[in-house]
Amino acid sequence: MNTKHQKKPVSASSVQHHVYKVFPNDLNAHYTIFGGLVMSLCDRVALVVSERHSSKVCVTASVDSFHFVAPAKDGDTLLISAAVNRTWSSSMEIGVRVDAENSFSGEKKHIVSAYFTFVALGADNKPCEVPEIEPKTAEELRRYQGAQVRRDARLKTRESLTNMK
Ligand SMILES: CC(C)(COP(=O)(O)OP(=O)(O)OC[C@H]1O[C@@H](n2cnc3c(N)ncnc32)[C@H](O)[C@@H]1OP(=O)(O)O)[C@@H](O)C(=O)NCCC(=O)NCCS
Repeated sequence: MNTKHQKKPVSASSVQHHVYKVFPNDLNAHYTIFGGLVMSLCDRVALVVSERHSSKVCVTASVDSFHFVAPAKDGDTLLISAAVNRTWSSSMEIGVRVDAENSFSGEKKHIVSAYFTFVALGADNKPCEVPEIEPKTAEELRRYQGAQVRRDARLKTRESLTNMK
């Protein structure tokens, strides 16, 4: 069986609630968390998910969207979760969600949602095939279907921009 047709469950590579404690040096001039730091943390966690899924070296190809829906502040604990939503030939969409937890009260708020595309590279440094994902839960299926909509939109935009040249 070739790599692409080996199906893997989402749970085999997902990361649940990777913790990062926010300290004063993580803040912007407005005293909320610096967005670039959150982007970097998400990229690292999503990279681990893509490498676990593909068992290959992976690179970030693009970020479709990165929504900061609420701020986090000094003393909050960030909980970063990420999973493969869908794979194609050599690329994978990884969805990332970040919550900010007040670890004293247990209160949590959703602060970020983002979609990354990673590409797996072979020994020749060229894109190589990755296993398919096998969505099992209703939530995994919803994300799997949403990922195709986002990819179609991305390819359409790329084609339109190419045709403008
Ligand atoms: C991502 C990269 C490997 C793609 O290489 P390429 O030679 O353009 O590859 P191809 O055109 O054959 O496309 C390979 C796959 O990448 C996907 N891809 C390429 N550019 C993409 C982009 N901007 N966004 C999303 N997916 C992209 C293609 O859709 C294709 O997916 P598929 O195989 O699942 O259909 C290459 O552009 C690269 O190395 N970029 C730099 C990555 C990097 O340095 N990242 C930051 C540090 S990790």
